[in-house]
Amino acid sequence: MQKLTRRARFLAALNGEPVDRPPVWLMRQAGRYLPEYMAIRAKHGFWDVCRTPELSTGVALEPLQKFEIDAAIVFSDILVVPEAMGLGVTFGKGEGPLMSKPMRSAADLAAWNLEGVQERLKYVPNAVAHLQKTLNGSHGLIGFAGAPFTLFAYSVEGGGSDDFRLARTMLHNEPALAEKALATIADVVTGLLESQFEAGVDVIQLFDTWGGLLSREEYLRFAIPPIQRITKALAAKGRKSMLFVRGGHHLLPVLGEAGVDGFSLDWRTPWAEARALYPNALLQGNIDPILLFTSPEVVRSATRGLMTQMARHASTRNIVNLGHGILPQTPVSSVAAMCAEVAA
Ligand code: CP3
Repeated sequence: MQKLTRRARFLAALNGEPVDRPPVWLMRQAGRYLPEYMAIRAKHGFWDVCRTPELSTGVALEPLQKFEIDAAIVFSDILVVPEAMGLGVTFGKGEGPLMSKPMRSAADLAAWNLEGVQERLKYVPNAVAHLQKTLNGSHGLIGFAGAPFTLFAYSVEGGGSDDFRLARTMLHNEPALAEKALATIADVVTGLLESQFEAGVDVIQLFDTWGGLLSREEYLRFAIPPIQRITKALAAKGRKSMLFVRGGHHLLPVLGEAGVDGFSLDWRTPWAEARALYPNALLQGNIDPILLFTSPEVVRSATRGLMTQMARHASTRNIVNLGHGILPQTPVSSVAAMCAEVAA
């Protein structure tokens, strides 16, 4: 088959049409492993980069200029939502996110600033629009947001955690409060994602980075309903969506309830198992980001192995990616090797 342009290849995979090869992009492809990103961050704060369309576009384009990548992802963060709701989000040096006003009670929830929240988030669709104009159809364009449970987890805990004990106990001790918070987050996320589609993204991804902490029963009861709130609204307008649940192998059988078009698989989820369960879904993944610290030969062989698995099934709805975001310190040469192997 004749060679497709990058965006045409990405759209063909989204739609299950014939492709010359699967498209590739990498979660967290714009970030701290790139010296160009660090140079911009030496001069500008993280939120300034997100809020200045020229800066966020520059950062989003870096990986596209360096590697054989088929889609751009808008430069933003999942925590823009709690930030816009007034939880006071900052990124402490080396310790991850911190929130000055965590949600621990009904009074805290009532204090969330929802009035004008989409206006305060306007810089995200503005970043999308600027990026889309600059790309001018050269690459696919991905929007994103945090999945409600992950945003709830950060918002209750007040930052990162290994076990998110406070958030997970709230699910059981105060389920009505938790469900109200989750639904509230879902509505803000729906508005944010719709604004990204209006600004030109081809597909969105929901990042449920901490969803894998939940049992299957908990995920069905607490995490799926707010996701459905989002996907029902998006699907009504024909919007395409993907869901990434880190550590979500045990959740695979219930993820079909989420109402998304596809799943971004964690590196521990066997590709063939996901494909057998979801023959027609869009599937993305799932090279272990740690492999990028080995050698270009190991990276190339893992990538080839993944593509062989993809080719075993009739569906062309496959996207090569990592099974989680690129880590800081990742050798740029490994990223290049992975993308080059897909394009070879
Ligand atoms: O993929 C991309 O290139 C687009 C940009 C993007 C960022 N964050 C930029 C960012 C995306 C898609 C995210 C998603 C995100 N943010 C997730 C879900 C994906 C995942 O990794 O599981 C999560 C959990 C967050 C929350 C978050 N934001 C953390 C934990 C941190 C601090 C620690 C870290 O990994 O850097 C951030 C800050 C952040 N978001 C940075 C970047 C490039 C680093 C900020 C800096 O420059 O210091």
